[in-house]
Amino acid sequence: MALRFEILGRFNRARAAQLILPHFVCHTPLFMPVGTQGTIKGLTTNELEEIGCQIILGNTYHLALRPTSELIDEMGGLHKFMNWPRALLTDSGGFQMVSLLHLADITEEGVTFQSPVDGKPMLLTPEESIQIQNRIGADIIMALDDVVKTTTKGPRIEEAMYRTLRWIDRCIKAHKRPDEQNLFGIVQGGLDPRLRDLCVKGLVERNLPGYAIGGLAGGEDKDSFWRVVAQCTASLPEDKPRYVMGVGYPLDIVVCSALGADMYDCVYPTRTARFGTALVPEGVLKLKHKAMADDIRPVDPTCECMVCKNYTRAYIHCLVTKDAMGSQLLSYHNLYYMLKLSRDLHSSIVRGQFPQFVCQFLQKMFPEGD
Ligand code: GUN
Ligand code: ZN
Repeated sequence: MALRFEILGRFNRARAAQLILPHFVCHTPLFMPVGTQGTIKGLTTNELEEIGCQIILGNTYHLALRPTSELIDEMGGLHKFMNWPRALLTDSGGFQMVSLLHLADITEEGVTFQSPVDGKPMLLTPEESIQIQNRIGADIIMALDDVVKTTTKGPRIEEAMYRTLRWIDRCIKAHKRPDEQNLFGIVQGGLDPRLRDLCVKGLVERNLPGYAIGGLAGGEDKDSFWRVVAQCTASLPEDKPRYVMGVGYPLDIVVCSALGADMYDCVYPTRTARFGTALVPEGVLKLKHKAMADDIRPVDPTCECMVCKNYTRAYIHCLVTKDAMGSQLLSYHNLYYMLKLSRDLHSSIVRGQFPQFVCQFLQKMFPEGD
């Protein structure tokens, strides 16, 4: 195991902890911005450090295609290649192929897909995913899992859960750097409590450094989503980090943290920035809107980020969709917002003020009379 997880405070099921990884000491609850080609679109690594980013998520699938894991290895690993001294996590690749390509086909051997480079059929096995992630060198690496949409019905959900359990053993066996990289298992099982329970038990028996809850945020309703998180966190070990994959919106992060989850990743803050949307305490602010054209206020008058200190809504309205700088400034603000939310969750739990923080958060987002 290449991590330590030290809980600093609790409130009911919520926890605030220190996650000590090889490259950085992170604080949970923790939001992880998503970079695809070894970059978070529009921000330099210096800016990411400046806004308090502790760990970045990279995608094995994208990095393996370009620049290739062999090249990253030759360059001394992804930390060095992208000039990022803090922590990194790589996802295993299967989920990205299934969600991005729609061309992927899953068999017991692995995930087959058509190469977007030359169209040739390629196969990503659990062994290969781990070998690639060992070369990339992230602090946390993810097991290859068989992901199905939560809205899928029938025996496919059960098949995917059992296959995920068979694949974890192949991942564990293939992992060559357990003293430097932490392999997390991923709980699957759709919305079926029995399958989720079997998967949690199976993974916990393998005594992994951390556990992720997968297969969520794929179109199911909030009630079902939160129920799965609540069930999984209740039976995962107390002393290991819990990561809810692909989540999420600020409200989801607050709710899942209350339910005992610790880590999150989502493309939402940067993707929505590129469409001209800012995250603010009241919800969202659409900078494309005509009303912004002569609004001299900052994006969020209560925000202390570089963008809100220096630029008006009118200026960003003018740039948005016309110049890359528009989405860069909004990405900066949106990530600052998510990272500040993580820090506020952490400190409110440590100080015993978690309920007050949640109340304030909800009152701003859902004011009375709205
Ligand atoms: N990203 C979002 N959800 C998932 C999931 O279920 N599995 C993996 N590997 N990545 C994800
Ligand atoms: Zn701001």
